[in-house]
Amino acid sequence: MLGFAAMGPLATGRSRPAALVTGAGTRVGRVIADRLAAEGISLAFHCHTSRAGAQEGAARARDLGVDATVVEADLSDWDAAHELPARAARALGRLDIVVNSAAVFERVAFGEIGPQQLARMLGINFVAPFAVCQGAAEVLARPGGCIVNILDVGARQPWRGYAHYNASKAALAMLTRGLALELAPDIRVNGVAPGAILFPESYDPQQREAEIRRIPLGRAGTPGDVADAVLYLVRSDFVTGEILRVDGGRGI
Ligand SMILES: NC(=O)c1ccc[n+]([C@@H]2O[C@H](COP(=O)([O-])OP(=O)(O)OC[C@H]3O[C@@H](n4cnc5c(N)ncnc54)[C@H](OP(=O)(O)O)[C@@H]3O)[C@@H](O)[C@H]2O)c1
Repeated sequence: MLGFAAMGPLATGRSRPAALVTGAGTRVGRVIADRLAAEGISLAFHCHTSRAGAQEGAARARDLGVDATVVEADLSDWDAAHELPARAARALGRLDIVVNSAAVFERVAFGEIGPQQLARMLGINFVAPFAVCQGAAEVLARPGGCIVNILDVGARQPWRGYAHYNASKAALAMLTRGLALELAPDIRVNGVAPGAILFPESYDPQQREAEIRRIPLGRAGTPGDVADAVLYLVRSDFVTGEILRVDGGRGI
């Protein structure tokens, strides 16, 4: 079994564990990838349109002395999503960790969600990570592989106005628990369910303040809070099927 708890900046060369993070060119995914690289983990930065951000991330990782590569893919394409872990494994020489962070998020009144919008939401937020997990199961280290899916507290406690988004994350939450059973004992599968972390740019100050008032700890989270949770799950060899809320207590 790979001792993630024992690894760290001292890991060297091809013996380093290697990770793929989807949606690693911007925002939360980028911080998760940076955090793993800082732990001495080789990194495949996946991006779709944020190529510059992914390339900068890979350069930062190389500056830390770890292998890093950029893998571009439109995850609305099943084959591209399924093939992504194998591409990362080929580029880095092995693959131990997959973090599914890429997603779409949009507010649409329930009555206005049409079939194309619903299909796109489920396609990126559920079908794509499904395909990535299936591809990952073929190439992840066995034993010792691990998958972390980035979910949302909205999967259990829905955000108003986001029916299709909440449902996509609820489906991914159930996939996370189901795969924890199916892929045990060789591969662990866990989820992180963030609450309000980075607001969409369309949110005005009043919307942000209203959201923060619902959070017992009195602030929005940071991408670093999510990355800390991912790292905990990566390191915890006896934890699988767990969904860790990172929401400042909003879900209480
Ligand atoms: N931000 C929050 O407060 C918050 C709260 C709860 C949960 N979450 C979850 O945390 C994760 C990260 O959140 P975020 O706010 O950083 O996400 P985001 O900015 O909305 O999007 C993350 C990435 O998804 C990628 N993506 C979208 N469509 C794609 C496609 N067709 N093919 C490939 N990649 C695609 C984008 O890649 P490119 O930029 O390269 O195109 C983007 O960088 C998501 O799973 C989100 O649901 C976030």
